[in-house]
Amino acid sequence: MVKAWISRQASQTEALLETLSDADFPKEAVVLRVQYSSLNYKDALALTHTAPIARTYPMVHGIDAVGEVVASGSLRWPVGTVCQVNDWGLGETHWGGLAERVVVPEQWVSPIPQGRSARWAAALGTAGYTAALCVMALQDHPVRPGDGPVLVTGVSGGVGTVSCLLLKYLGYEVVGLTGSIDATGAPVSDSAAAHFDRLGLGASHLIHRESMNRPGKPLQREQFAAVVDSVGSHTLVNACAQTRYGGVVAACGLAQGMDLQGSVAPFILRGITLRGINCVFRSHAERDRAWGLLASALGEYDLDFMVKEIRLAQALDAARQVLANQLQGRVVVNCA
Ligand SMILES: NC(=O)c1ccc[n+]([C@@H]2O[C@H](COP(=O)([O-])OP(=O)(O)OC[C@H]3O[C@@H](n4cnc5c(N)ncnc54)[C@H](OP(=O)(O)O)[C@@H]3O)[C@@H](O)[C@H]2O)c1
Repeated sequence: MVKAWISRQASQTEALLETLSDADFPKEAVVLRVQYSSLNYKDALALTHTAPIARTYPMVHGIDAVGEVVASGSLRWPVGTVCQVNDWGLGETHWGGLAERVVVPEQWVSPIPQGRSARWAAALGTAGYTAALCVMALQDHPVRPGDGPVLVTGVSGGVGTVSCLLLKYLGYEVVGLTGSIDATGAPVSDSAAAHFDRLGLGASHLIHRESMNRPGKPLQREQFAAVVDSVGSHTLVNACAQTRYGGVVAACGLAQGMDLQGSVAPFILRGITLRGINCVFRSHAERDRAWGLLASALGEYDLDFMVKEIRLAQALDAARQVLANQLQGRVVVNCA
C-alpha cells in the first residue's frame, strides 16, 4: 500500500492524503520508491486547490521526485539506481511525487550529479533547476559579471535564493527584491536576517518589494544589467523599465500575478530582451547543463541553511505556509 497526496476531482477544496494500492498507479517503465519530494510554489497551489494545476483527475500531486528504482523495464535505470524526475507534467497530467511511489517513462528520469545525495537534489528540485535555467539565459545572452548588478526578485523564495547563490558563485553582483524587510530595510524576522546573511545580501543590496509592485513609468532609471524574476505582474514591468540598454530579463514566475500591463518602450528604446523560462519540457542536454551548474556551485551541505524538512503527512500544512509567505528557502518532503 502506498500513501499519496491525491485530488479526485477539481471541485475538492484541498488534496487528501490517501492510501492507494499498487494497482492504482499508471503502468510505465520505471518505478521509484520516493525518498524525497519538495514543496514548490506550484505544489502549494495544487494541494490547496488555489489554482488549477492538475489537468486531469484523479491526480497525485508533486512536480519533483527523488528516489530509488524498485522495478524497471529500462536498461538505463536498473533496480537500485537513485535518480530524480523533475516536471515533465508530474502532478499536472501524470501522477506526481508527493507520494511514497512514482511510476514514470524512462525518458523522464535524470541522474543525480555525482557526489551529491538524494536530499541535496530534492533541496534544489524544480525551483533550483529553474533558477539554473534563468542564470543560463543570462550567461547565453550574454551578460557578464562586470556588466552591472543583477536584480533577483522574490529573493527569499526557492527560485530567488538559488538564483542568488548561483549568480554570486559566478561572480555577479546581486540586488534582491523582497517583502521580507521592513520600511527601514531591516529583515522582518531573525530567520529572514539569517537567510540574507547567508546570501551575502546586506541592506544596501536589498530593495523592498513595494517599491516595484505598483504601476510605474514606462522607462525608469537604468539600474540592472539583467533580472531574474519569479514574481511577474507590475514587478516584472518595472524590472524591464529599470534594465540597462541591451540587458535581459529572465521571467519564470507569477508570485505577484500573471498579468503584464506594460509598455513596449524598454524593448524598442533600450533593446532589452524578455526571456520566458519554462522548466517543464526541457531537453536532457539543457537539464544536464543546469544540474551541472548547480553541482559546481553548491556542495552537499551548502543548502542546509535554506532547507526545512517535513514528513509527507505535513505537506498540506506547509503548502498553506508557502502561500502565506511564511517560509524562506525550500521545503524538502521526506517520503520514506
Ligand atoms: N516557469 C517555470 O518553469 C517555473 C519553475 C519553478 C517555479 N516557477 C514559478 O516561480 C515562482 C516562484 O517559485 P518558488 O518555488 O521559488 O516559490 P516560493 O519559494 O514560494 O518563493 C516565492 C517568493 O516570491 C515572493 N513573493 C511571494 N508573494 C509575493 C507577492 N504577492 N508579490 C511579490 N513577491 C511575492 C516571496 O519572496 P520575498 O519574501 O523575498 O519577497 C516568496 O518567497 C512561482 O510563481 C512559481 O510558480 C516557475
